Amino acid sequence: MSGVSRRSLLQAVGAGSSAGVMFAAMGAVGLAPTAAAQPPSKAWTPPGRSDFALSGRSSKKVVVVGGGPAGLATAYELRKAGYRVTVLEARHRVGGRTLTIRDGDSETDTDGIKQTARFDRDVYMNAGAGRIAQWMVTMDYMRELGVPYEVFTNANADAYLYNEKSGATPGNPIRYRTAKADVFGYTSELLNYATDQGALDQKLTTEDKENLRDFLRSFGSLQSNGTYAGGNNRGFSEYPTAWNAHGTPLPGPGTASQVLASKVGLYFSFENNWEQAMLMFQPVGGMDTTYSYFVKAIGQQNVLLNSPVTGVENTHRGVKVTYQPKRGHTRQIEADFAVVTAPAGLMRRWDTNWGSEIDSALGEFSVGSPAGKIGLQYKSRWWEDDHRIYGGITETDMDLAHVWHPSYGYGGRKGLMVGYYNTGANARAYADLSPRQREARAVAQGVKIFGPKYRTELESSFSIAWHKVPYIEGAWAYPKTTSPLFKKLQQGTGNVYFAGDWMSEISAWQHGAFWAARYAVQALHARVMSA
Ligand code: FAD
Ligand code: ALA
Repeated sequence: MSGVSRRSLLQAVGAGSSAGVMFAAMGAVGLAPTAAAQPPSKAWTPPGRSDFALSGRSSKKVVVVGGGPAGLATAYELRKAGYRVTVLEARHRVGGRTLTIRDGDSETDTDGIKQTARFDRDVYMNAGAGRIAQWMVTMDYMRELGVPYEVFTNANADAYLYNEKSGATPGNPIRYRTAKADVFGYTSELLNYATDQGALDQKLTTEDKENLRDFLRSFGSLQSNGTYAGGNNRGFSEYPTAWNAHGTPLPGPGTASQVLASKVGLYFSFENNWEQAMLMFQPVGGMDTTYSYFVKAIGQQNVLLNSPVTGVENTHRGVKVTYQPKRGHTRQIEADFAVVTAPAGLMRRWDTNWGSEIDSALGEFSVGSPAGKIGLQYKSRWWEDDHRIYGGITETDMDLAHVWHPSYGYGGRKGLMVGYYNTGANARAYADLSPRQREARAVAQGVKIFGPKYRTELESSFSIAWHKVPYIEGAWAYPKTTSPLFKKLQQGTGNVYFAGDWMSEISAWQHGAFWAARYAVQALHARVMSA
C-alpha cells in the first residue's frame, strides 16, 4: 500500500472516530505506534468505549498508582473507554497536593506530629493548590464533571504591600493601588523626560515620541508639564461621599527616589504572569471538591485508600503491583498495565525491575522542595470590615512571603486567611517549628501589617509543610524536559507508564498533571489498539 493511500485510509477511519480506532487502523496498515513513537501530547482524542467493540478486542485491566489529579484523571479517562481500573492511594484521602483542610481533618507529618483542624463549618483552607487560570484544562474537567466554581481573586488593588527590608514600618503598609500610581507615575515622568531630552532620538521618530508621550501621560497620570504629582488613583484616606465632600487624599507621594527605594514595583509583574493573570478560579467549597467528583465518576469501589504501593514489576503478561493495606498482609494485583503517578523521587524506594536507567531518570527529580502554608481562622472578617480588602494577596518581604485573603464567604461572620505561603528557606524555617510556634511567628509578623486584630481575633490555625507530608515529601519538582532521561520516562517501561505534574511542561499545576495523564492514557490505548 502506498504512503498516500495509507494516509487516506487513516483519514477516512480517523474522521469521526476516536483515537483508539485510528490507532487500530494504523496497526492494520503496519503503522502501529510503538512505545518509542507515541502520539503528540498536544492532540487529545480520548479513547472511546466503542474502540473495543469496533476492533473486536477485549478491554484491559490497569492499576493506577496514586489518587492525585494525574492518577484520578488517568483512571477516569480509562474507565470512560471501558477499561477496568483500580486506583491505589497511599494516603487516607484522594487529591494529593490539592489538599483542602476542613474542620476535623487530621494530618500527621513525617516527624509524627499530628494536627487536627478546628474550623467552623463553612471555613476551609486550601493547603496546596488554590487557583486555576481560565485557559487550564482543569477548568474543562470541572465543567465536564459538574464541579461548581467561582472566581479566585489573585490581584486586588486594595490589598497591601509591606516591604520591611526596604523601609516599611509597622502599621504602614501601602496599598497596591497607591504603589502602582507612584511607580507608574514616576517611571512615566522619567521616560517622558528622557524623551524630551533627546535620549531616545536614535530609537524613535518624532511621531513615535509623540505617541509615547500620549501613552505616558495616561499611564502615569502625568500633569500637563509631564511631571507626576500623585492624584486620585493613589486612593484616599476618606473616599468621596455626598455632594461637595471630595474626600481626603492620601498623604504623598514621596519622591521618585523614595518610591524606587521601597521596591514595591517588583511585585507588579506577577499580575501579568501567563499562569497567574486574572481572572482565576477555584472550585466552590475547596480545591479537593473536584477529586470527590472524579471518584464518583470512577466508582468509589475502584479507589483503594490507605494502600501504599511498595513494588511494581513488569511480568511476561503485564504487571504485578504490590501494596500494603492498612490492615492485614501485603497484597498484589496483576494487571495488563500500570500507570504510576507518585512523586518521582519516592518511586526509587520501591521494589521494581525497571532497571537502573529508569531509576536514574526518576532521580532527576529531587525530593523535598519545600513550601508551607498556615490557615488562620478569625472570629470576624476584620480585613473586609476594617481594611476593605475582599480577596486577593498581600505581599511582604518578610518570611511570610504571601498572605492570602479568602476568595469565598465574603461578608460572612468568620473567615480564614492564609497567614503565610512561602517556599525555600522560609518554608524550611517554619517547618522546623511546632505548629504552635509557627502560629506565634506568623502572627507576630502579620500584626505589623494589619494591627492588633491579627492576634486578638484569631481562633485557630492549621499549618502544612509540604516536604513533611507522607507520600508527597515536597511541593513540586521541575523536569528537564529536554533531557534524554526524561524522554525515556515519557515512553514508559514495559507495561508501566508514568504520569504526574512532574512529567509535564507545567509542573506545580493541576493542568500539568492532567496533560501528563492524558499523554499516558493515549500512549497506553494506542498500544492496546495496535496489539
Ligand atoms: P499529587 O497531587 O502529588 O498526587 C500523587 C498521589 O500519589 C498522592 O495522593 C500520593 O499520596 C500518592 N502516592 C505517593 N506514593 C504512593 C504510593 N507508594 N502508593 C500509592 N500512592 C502513592 N496547582 C494548581 O493548579 N493551582 C495552584 O494554585 C497550585 N498551587 C499549589 C500550591 C502548593 C503549596 C502545592 C504543594 C501545589 C500546588 N499546585 C497547584 C500543584 C498541584 O497541587 C499539583 O500539580 C497536582 O496535585 C499534581 O498532581 P499529581 O497527581 O501529579 O501529584
Ligand atoms: N502553581 C502554584 C501556585 O500558583 C505554584 O501557587
